[in-house]
Amino acid sequence: MKASLHQVDYRALRGRRVLVRVDFNTPLDADGRITDDTRIRASLETIEHLAGSGARVILISHLGRPKGREEKLSLKPIAAHLADLLRGKGINVSFANECVGHVAHAAVAKVLPGEVCLLENVRFHQEDEANDLGFAQRLALLGEIYVNDAFGVSHRAHASTAGLTQFLRPALAGFLLEREVNVLSSTLENPTRPFATIIGGSKVSSKMAVLEKLLERADVMIIGGAMAFSFLKAQGFEVGRSLVENDRLEYCTKLMARAKELGVRLILPVDVVCGRSVSDTCAAGIARIHKMPPDLIGLDIGPTTIRIIEHELDQCQTIMWNGPLGLFETRAFAMGTNAIIDKLVALTGSGNRRTVVGGGDSVAALSARNVTDGGVSHISTGGGATLEFIEQGTLPGIACLDDVRG
Ligand code: 3PG
Repeated sequence: MKASLHQVDYRALRGRRVLVRVDFNTPLDADGRITDDTRIRASLETIEHLAGSGARVILISHLGRPKGREEKLSLKPIAAHLADLLRGKGINVSFANECVGHVAHAAVAKVLPGEVCLLENVRFHQEDEANDLGFAQRLALLGEIYVNDAFGVSHRAHASTAGLTQFLRPALAGFLLEREVNVLSSTLENPTRPFATIIGGSKVSSKMAVLEKLLERADVMIIGGAMAFSFLKAQGFEVGRSLVENDRLEYCTKLMARAKELGVRLILPVDVVCGRSVSDTCAAGIARIHKMPPDLIGLDIGPTTIRIIEHELDQCQTIMWNGPLGLFETRAFAMGTNAIIDKLVALTGSGNRRTVVGGGDSVAALSARNVTDGGVSHISTGGGATLEFIEQGTLPGIACLDDVRG
């Protein structure tokens, strides 16, 4: 088990420079405005706790994937937004135009106990992604304690997520990271049964390890999204012009056989909402899977499939969902994904069910449906990180943190 801020007496934080890796990689519109601040809000608990304990809080984050310094990916507007969020708590937020070197040191030197300073985008230095140890050491010089609260980027072994722990101890989990690890681990390792997993998204090839891992643990596996068509094709159905990975059909057949062996009920669509192209804004109709017109593309699960899935979910105590069930960004093909969201919210509201949602697209679908924390039991802040955590049970940015002593 990894040590977290919960294991540190708050009095030991007073006046200390605490270097916190956060994931403020938030979506921005064309004018650089933040369109969703979920990830910023998700780290407020850690930031407020540290500031409230009298620590000098130094935040490190990346934004986007810049090649060198790119002003449109500066964290300055994010610092302003953070300042707005923390003003009501009486916490001052400053911004440093650099994340290493004398500019960063000068900015950090001005931070008083209980204040926060956000450093400029760490990826303006290619050395971060290269996990360059010299760069990691330069970052480490800015703090006395390291906290990782950036679950969403912990699958990357970068200087700011992994390398710097070689130079800075203690290295602890922040509250957000700790919660993500606890919820995902307990859901995977000790779910209240029956346990259903819903997997969507476009490609089988990008989720193979996750499918295998979940199959070993679940009682029911529901497959939707375009990836379902590879399974259906492997079963011998003609699926029109739907997306199929022909080089994965054998894999799908093996996975279905393994599900049978393990006694896992595997649910695939029995009907789909079709379009003529992925850029269609209205549906061309609903087709039963065994009667799919050759010229159409399946872009969402159909109403009968929705009813079957809802019935399955009613029987389950734990539900983990990753990946949309259709092209939810287009209204005509959002019915399946939205029906599942509504079902998860209803089941969560009825008590006693654990509903966990992870993955960038599923979380975006929740947000488009105005479902926030509390609507379901847990919304993971990770995209790739959540998938890799399911596969491996840990991540490079977590494995390098201190273990709980004794
Ligand atoms: C994410 O948005 O998934 C994380 O912030 C990681 O970003 P990356 O994929 O650019 O490393």
